[in-house]
Amino acid sequence: MLSDDLIKNLQLLKKDGILFLPKYTPATQEKIGLAKTEYHTTVKTSENIAITKADKMAQLQEQIKNCQNCKLSSLRTNIVFGEGNLNAELFFVGEAPGENEDLQGKPFVGKAGILLTKIINAMNLSREEVYIGNIIKCRPPKNRDPENDEIDACINIILAQIDIIKPKIICTLGRVSSKTLLATDEKISKLRGKFYDFRGIKLMPTFHPAHLLHHPESKKPVWEDMQMIMKELSIPLKK
Ligand code: URA
Repeated sequence: MLSDDLIKNLQLLKKDGILFLPKYTPATQEKIGLAKTEYHTTVKTSENIAITKADKMAQLQEQIKNCQNCKLSSLRTNIVFGEGNLNAELFFVGEAPGENEDLQGKPFVGKAGILLTKIINAMNLSREEVYIGNIIKCRPPKNRDPENDEIDACINIILAQIDIIKPKIICTLGRVSSKTLLATDEKISKLRGKFYDFRGIKLMPTFHPAHLLHHPESKKPVWEDMQMIMKELSIPLKK
């Protein structure tokens, strides 16, 4: 058993980026002729950030794994926590899981998800390079809009995820996520096409991919919005 003090000290070292301790002290290493290793092995800053973010995200996921904060909890197959790159510059925020998402526990894996993946790929990005989450984490019955009490019960999770990832850009998909994060009742058709400030992060609202499935004429404005995001992220346009 490790003593509480020792555990605390090891956690402090980990926070400082010291992830490995040598088996021997430098003096012993020299005595027995082992190659010298740095006593305090500090990993690169970006890795440190990734590890800390992973810890925080895992902790958050653990905290909500048995969530019963709203009436949707008793209806769910799986919580759809969100997934992607913890160092993502771009964070897509959808509305709520649908049937496929509920069954698989992953965001945007149904028809709308396939279209979102195509949009991401058209931006010269992959799903693995971005982060994808939803305003609420459990599926509403028959995919109805999330109700205010459900959003209130869940909102802190997406806020915490944004806070952990600290993306350069948030792209809200559709009316529900846009109006929730921007605290407005304005229509998505009026909101889209420009950046807003969300807690110091640029936020671009655009149409939901599910809307595009029935309104292909909205693909052009969505692509214009994505191009604005690409410009902001210095991603060159494919020729
Ligand atoms: N629609 C959403 O808003 N989110 C999903 O995860 C799937 C469909």
